[in-house]
This record gives sequence, structure tokens and C-alpha cells, in this order.
Amino acid sequence: MLSDKMSDALNSQINKEIFSSYLYMAMSMYFAAEDLSGASSWMRIQVLEELSHAEKFMNYVNERGGRVSLDSIEKPAFSWKSPLDAFHGAQDHERFISSSINDLVGLAREEKDFMSDNFLQWFVAEQVEEEASVSEVIRMFKLAGSAGGGLLMIDKELGSRVFTPPTVN
Ligand code: FEO
Repeated sequence: MLSDKMSDALNSQINKEIFSSYLYMAMSMYFAAEDLSGASSWMRIQVLEELSHAEKFMNYVNERGGRVSLDSIEKPAFSWKSPLDAFHGAQDHERFISSSINDLVGLAREEKDFMSDNFLQWFVAEQVEEEASVSEVIRMFKLAGSAGGGLLMIDKELGSRVFTPPTVN
């Protein structure tokens, strides 16, 4: 059984994961409006990733006899100064999520909730990938500079990303 404190913290993380999907949907729409269909598609896959993270947390709370309580979702931004600016926004957000996951691990250890600690380790590893994939895109945009041809090549590359659903539990 989850403690009330752990249950509240996990519910708060569920909200953050769903907000993440909302933010990346907004970024996807921004890229679509900028005629960057590859970046738009990349972000749509990120939306699915985030929803799968939320689902993983919801399943876990249910399995541990807790109650999932969905909260309202904050309104995300809808426009960015440039594609690079949007990906910097995504990078800042992923760093924030990593820190939130670290705080959850800290709480689990403080409460001697080793089941939650073990569950959260999947997310600790996942955040390494989440941060690395956004950093890789930023690196590509920086290398291409503002050259139109380079931007189109990156957009094509981003459009090749496919969604691989994580295991359910
Ligand atoms: Fe669910 Fe992108 O972290």
C-alpha cells in the first residue's frame, strides 16, 4: 500500500507527464504551422511517449492500491522564436522532469518504499534517453545553422522517427 505522501507525489508526476504530452502536442502544431512536417511528426511521437509514461505511473498507483486523481492540465505555450528555441524548451522541460523523478526516488528512499524506488528506476534510465534525444536534435540544428537546405535535411531525418511502445509495467 502506498503512503499518502507517495501517492500524492505519484499523482503529481502523472499530471507532469500528461502536461509533457500537451506541451509536445503544442510544439508539434507549431512545427506544422512552420511547414516542418518532420519535426512536427517527431513531436507527435514524443506525445505518445509521454502518454505511455503517464500510463505506466497510473498502472503502478493502481497496482499498489492507491487512487489515481487526475488534475487539470496547465496551458502550454503555442509559439516559439525558432525551431531551435522550441527544442531548447523541450530540453529545459526534460531536465525539469528528470529532477522531478529524482525527487520521487528521494522520497521513496526516505519512506523506505523500496517497491516505488525499484519502479522509478525505469524512469531514471528513461530520462537519460529523453534528455539525450532532445540534445541530439539541438546539436543537429546548431550544425545546420540557418541554412535552408540543412534545415530541410534535418526535418527529413526527424520525420523518420518511429514510436516504440515501452513495456506496459
Ligand atoms: Fe516523460 Fe519526457 O519524460
